[in-house]
Amino acid sequence: MTHPAYPDVVRYHEETKHHLERYARSPGYMDWGNQPVPFRFYEGVTPLPLPLLETDPGTTHDDLYQRENNAVWPINRQSIGGFLELSLAISTWKSAGGSRWALRINPSSGNLHPTEAHPVLPSMDDAAAGVFHYNPFLHALEPRASLESAVWDEVTRHFSGEAFLVVLTSIFWRESWKYGERAFRYCQHDTGHALAALSFSASLFGWHTRMLDEVSDDDLDTVLGFDKVQWHGIEREDPELICVVRPGGTRSCPHHLPRPFVTACRGMPVTGRPNRLSKETVTWDIIYETARLTRAPASEAASAAYGSRPFRSGAFSPSAPAAMIRGRRSAVSFDDSGSLSRENFLAILDKTLPRNNHPPFDAVRTAPTTHLLLFVHRVGGMEPGMYFFLRAAEDMTDLRAAADSDFLWQEVEPEFPLFLLKPGNFRQTAALVSCHQDIAGFSAFSLGMIVRFAESLRNAPWQYRRLFWETGMIGQVLYLEAEAHDVRGTGIGCFFDDAVHNLMGLADLSFQSLYHFTIGIPVEDPRLTSFLPYEHLLDRPS
Ligand SMILES: Cc1cc2nc3c(=O)[nH]c(=O)nc-3n(C[C@H](O)[C@H](O)[C@H](O)COP(=O)(O)O)c2cc1C
Repeated sequence: MTHPAYPDVVRYHEETKHHLERYARSPGYMDWGNQPVPFRFYEGVTPLPLPLLETDPGTTHDDLYQRENNAVWPINRQSIGGFLELSLAISTWKSAGGSRWALRINPSSGNLHPTEAHPVLPSMDDAAAGVFHYNPFLHALEPRASLESAVWDEVTRHFSGEAFLVVLTSIFWRESWKYGERAFRYCQHDTGHALAALSFSASLFGWHTRMLDEVSDDDLDTVLGFDKVQWHGIEREDPELICVVRPGGTRSCPHHLPRPFVTACRGMPVTGRPNRLSKETVTWDIIYETARLTRAPASEAASAAYGSRPFRSGAFSPSAPAAMIRGRRSAVSFDDSGSLSRENFLAILDKTLPRNNHPPFDAVRTAPTTHLLLFVHRVGGMEPGMYFFLRAAEDMTDLRAAADSDFLWQEVEPEFPLFLLKPGNFRQTAALVSCHQDIAGFSAFSLGMIVRFAESLRNAPWQYRRLFWETGMIGQVLYLEAEAHDVRGTGIGCFFDDAVHNLMGLADLSFQSLYHFTIGIPVEDPRLTSFLPYEHLLDRPS
C-alpha cells in the first residue's frame, strides 16, 4: 500500500532536481553577512577536553576493513577522543586571500557541515554517564544531561556488554543558506558520510558500529532532550540516526533502545544553550515539510546478508590508515595527463560492495539499493566508455528492462559485477551532466549513483533519507580508497538529475541518480596554506 506521504516526498525530489535550463530554487547568491557558524557550541557548560591520539591505531590499509586485525581498545576518554578524532574532528586549517577555514575528517557539501554528533557515554574517569555534544572545534564533549548509573546499566544489559551510542543530527539551515531547497538532500549525503566515518574509525579501535534502525525519530528527540532546548528558530538540530558502538566483532545486537532508558531520558534535565549561527535566516518551507514527512517511526526493519566475497588486491599506498583518514581531501582539479591502473580502478570499485562483518556497510543491515553508472575516461587497460557496476545482482533484470536497449551489458571480467554499456569518449557529457563541472570530465573516472528509488520508499517514506545515507557511505569509501591508491576523489552533489537519467534511458522513478563522484590525479592549489588542526588548543590543560 502506498504511504500517504509518498507523493509529497516525490514532489520534494522532483522540485529539487537541477535541470539543464533551470537550477533548483536557492538564494542564487551568498549572503556572507549571515553565513552560519560552522561549529555548534552548547553554551553555559564546562566542556570535557578530549586528548588527541599519541599513537594511531592500525598499521596497514587492510586494518580499515578487517576489524579482527585490530587490538580492541577499552572505552575510556582516551579512546573516545581517538575515535572522534579519526571520524569527525578538524583535519586541517586552510587559508588564502585573508580567509581561514577548517576542513574536517568527514567531507561536507560546500564545507558547510550540517552534521552534529551527540555521544551517549558510560561513566569515564571522572565524568558521569550522560548525553554529550561533540564539539570538533574544541575536540571536547559538552555535557548535555547526566544519566544515573542504574539507567546506564540498563543500556549495558540490553547490548550484552560494554557499549556507547552516537546520535547524528542535521542543522538544515547550514546547507540551505547556500543551496536553498536542494539542501535537505545534501544533509542526508553528509549523514551517510559521517556514519561511514564513524564505522571506519571504530573499526581501527577494534569496535563495531551498528545503526539502530528500529528507533523512531521521536525517541531520538527524547534521548537528546531536544524538546527542552530553546532553539533559535530553524537553527535547530533534527535527529537523523543513532548507532551503537561495541568492542569486538558483530555479535548479534538488538536494533532498538531499551524502553526504561528512553523513559529515563524523558525526565532528565538538560544543560547548555545552542549558540546562534546567523543573525538572520531564510526558511525554505519544503525542507521542513519533507523533514517532517520522512521522520522515522518505530519500526521493525528487515535485514540482509551481504556474503563474504574476498577483497581484490590493488597497489596500496603504504600510508597507515589513520594518516589516510587525516589526509583525505576533495580534489579541486585533476591532472589530465596521468591515468589510474585497471587493477587499482577495479580494487576501488570492489571496496564499495557490502560484505558481512566488514566496515563500513556492516553498520547497516538493509539490502543494497545503489549501483554505479561509470564514465571511464582514463584508466590504463580499460576502454573509455559508459560502464555499470551492479551492487545488488537481483536488480539486473529490472535495470536492463528500464535502461537503453542498445547497451551492451558486456561483462568486463568473470565473477566481477562490472559491465561495459557503451564505448566512447564521455568526458564532455560527464562534465555537462555534473553541472558543467570539469572535475567530472577531466578525471580518471566519474560516476552517478543509481538507486532503486520508488519501490524503496513507496510504503516507507523515511527510506528517502536512508537512500541518501547509503550513497554517502559509498562516497566515503571512494574518498578513502582514492587516497589509498594515490589518487583523490570529490563528491558531487550538483548534477542535472534527468539529464543523467536520459543518458541511461531511464524514463520513470524506478531508478534515480542521487549522488555523483569523481576520482583522478589531483592538482594542488598552490595559493592555499595549511595549518595543523589543533594548534589553537596547544596551551589547553588536558
Ligand atoms: C555531499 C557532497 C556533495 C559535494 N558536491 C560537490 C560538488 O558538486 N562540487 C565540488 O567541487 N565539490 C563538492 N563536494 C566537495 C566539498 O566541497 C568538500 O567536501 C568540502 O569543501 C570540504 O573539503 P574536503 O572534502 O577536502 O574536507 C561535495 C562533498 C559532499 C560530501
